Amino acid sequence: MNRTNSVWAPPRSPLWGAARVRGRRRMLLAILLSWIGSIACHEGEPVTGAVDSAGVAVPGARPVTRERLVAASDEPASWITHGGDYAEQRFSRLTQVDERNVSRLGLAWSFDLETERGVEATPLVDDGVMYVSAPFDVVHALDAATGERLWTFDPQMDRDWVRNVCCGFVNRGVALYGERVYIGTLDNRLIAIDRRSGRPVWDVKTVEGDKPYSITGAPRVVEGKVVIGNSGADFGVRGFVSAYDAQTGALVWRTYTVPGNPAEGFESEAMERAAETWTGEWWVAGGGGTAWDGMAYDPELRLLYVGTGNGAPAVRWLRSPGGGDNLYLCSILALDVGTGELVWHYQEVPAESWDYTSTAPILLADLEIDGRLRKTLLHAPKSGFFYVLDRTNGEFLSAEPFTTVTWASGYDEAGRPIENPGVDFRDGPRFIRPAPYGGHSWQPMSFHPGTGLVYFPRRDMGSIFAGDVDWQHAPATWNTGFDTAAFSSFSLTDGGPMTASLVAWDPVAQREAWSVPHVTGFNGGTLSTAGGLVFQGSADGRFVAYRATDGEKLWESPVGTGVMAGPVSYEVDGEQYVAVAAGWGASFAWSGGQLALAAGVRGGGRVLAFKLDAKGEVPAGRAPLGPVPEPTFALASSEAERARGMELFHFYCSVCHGPMAVAGGSVPDLRHLSAERHAIFPRIVRDGLLRQSGMPGFADQLDEADVRAIQAWILERARESAAASRAGATNGPSG
Ligand code: HEC
Repeated sequence: MNRTNSVWAPPRSPLWGAARVRGRRRMLLAILLSWIGSIACHEGEPVTGAVDSAGVAVPGARPVTRERLVAASDEPASWITHGGDYAEQRFSRLTQVDERNVSRLGLAWSFDLETERGVEATPLVDDGVMYVSAPFDVVHALDAATGERLWTFDPQMDRDWVRNVCCGFVNRGVALYGERVYIGTLDNRLIAIDRRSGRPVWDVKTVEGDKPYSITGAPRVVEGKVVIGNSGADFGVRGFVSAYDAQTGALVWRTYTVPGNPAEGFESEAMERAAETWTGEWWVAGGGGTAWDGMAYDPELRLLYVGTGNGAPAVRWLRSPGGGDNLYLCSILALDVGTGELVWHYQEVPAESWDYTSTAPILLADLEIDGRLRKTLLHAPKSGFFYVLDRTNGEFLSAEPFTTVTWASGYDEAGRPIENPGVDFRDGPRFIRPAPYGGHSWQPMSFHPGTGLVYFPRRDMGSIFAGDVDWQHAPATWNTGFDTAAFSSFSLTDGGPMTASLVAWDPVAQREAWSVPHVTGFNGGTLSTAGGLVFQGSADGRFVAYRATDGEKLWESPVGTGVMAGPVSYEVDGEQYVAVAAGWGASFAWSGGQLALAAGVRGGGRVLAFKLDAKGEVPAGRAPLGPVPEPTFALASSEAERARGMELFHFYCSVCHGPMAVAGGSVPDLRHLSAERHAIFPRIVRDGLLRQSGMPGFADQLDEADVRAIQAWILERARESAAASRAGATNGPSG
């Protein structure tokens, strides 16, 4: 479906209208010129000309070509692909900012993303222009030296679709190719935007029908094709990766990650082989295996590496009752970039049952192992093990735990995990590490060729796992198979101490070189630089530079909100910048309850760019909420009603509003709801009154009595919390 015409309407778009192009007239002129230029142009035809760092239209800036992408690390002034280069090493060769002078870093500029939701994007930079995506897939083009807005593109994603999104309205970034910017949307479109004008060139739907897929990952462009996967396993879909012609938007290939119904025939031999590892009627719930983030590419081998997600449902004995490894869940797939055919696979978590997706960032590096130079693939996914594979053929080289792991004791020589007894919680709830948030998930990791170390944020956290024995696939809602009631209480009582840290990992020795503790989980991705530095933002609102060799903290700046995304570095007019998109929210920040609150920050997305001797002031963040006030709204209810309300809340609401209604600082904490808001509670919850800002309506799933039960329970929680804070406790779990 091509929705280009119906989607883009700059004169009416509120964002365009609000595009605060303060500042110089020449910039306005540049925008006007490129806008006029682009209407004069036929669809699909790239607009030529460029905008220099001062916003002046100049002809002949270089388009992003295959050659430039292959050699991306040779031009450190730009950051033209998600991971910095195809190997996704996130290593900048710029050296202006180094160990000795990093203390002189200051804020060059900041740009307000005008959102309180989570920001996970890696900005791309080329020709002095930064392209960054924000929640709801809004793309901004900014002057990379000043932060001034050049254009904003809002794909007007279908707000009703947010109910099909597991972990926040996030977007992890755009791709650049030729004269275009590419973005995937939560409502499953892939859009090519003219990079000069911000005008869409093509817009294709990447899924068939109305299955609950969504796109949050950044596209990658390889050999002229835009590659994109999707999410949705938690709701029940079948994973796949697609490649589109960058010029026309035509589908070139599509590769499924798990088999479909054998009665309908297999798409490939790989699917036929995979089907032998499944039992029961797995295809009804889709099977899962969605490829929602990590990818890397080796241009010499012409292999595209893709990480696949957890099962649908996640509980193995509900998904595939007769057993089996369930290929290709939680695997690294090496695909032929021309055809999408599977060349090799390595399954990290056979028969997964803990939501241990293998979609974490994939990093390629050539390392000397046992005296031999190996082309390796490095991976530190949710399962808690650090994997080293030979990326030419998928040979397993090693796997060692980088955090506390209790589901398996290790890996055998063939690369198969040795599961601990009873960990599939078939006999009842079990406490297992890591928790479904994983030891490490999508947060970008970086590699420093000088130190040979890999830097990434790590969590040490466990969870109660329990299966819902009555689970049956239900369309258009959660289908994890977990017992959500047992599950949602974990972070409140049984979670035990959670620790988090920045770890520098030696992938050859397979051990930690150094680590720095963090306040709570979900800290930012990393950037390493030839200046001997590692940059990382933290959940508790700081942006920090560490010495790459030993982790000594050399500089930090407040950023006014939690950071989850990965930083980038680039150069404009001879000056090196280090930039990061900050913004607490989504996933852990929403569903982590007390642990997320411990970050002490609120949402408030912004891009911040730092350079030497700049003196800008970081805009203050929103203050954390105070104690829960005694609610003044009255609603008569029975104990049974409130108990049902609690159960419904944990099935439908807690993923965004937090377990036990303890919200983590980004989405409203419903215990603080005013009497005025309580008066219109049913209109908000059933009719979708706040749909536009991401609060979906549930009229089709919750009747009036359900909503009343939820509301009554929330009021009870508010009273409990208010009483606890009067008694001097924090507004924490029991409080
Ligand atoms: C997909 C995430 C998501 C889910 C699921 C969700 N909400 Fe929300 N909700 C939000 C967001 C985002 C907002 C803030 C909207 C805004 O800024 O106007 C919100 C706002 C609200 C508000 C208004 C808060 C205020 O301060 O005005 C209420 C009430 C509410 N939600 C109740 C619920 C209930 C009850 C459920 C479960 C039936 C639920 N929500 C499920 C995301 C969600």
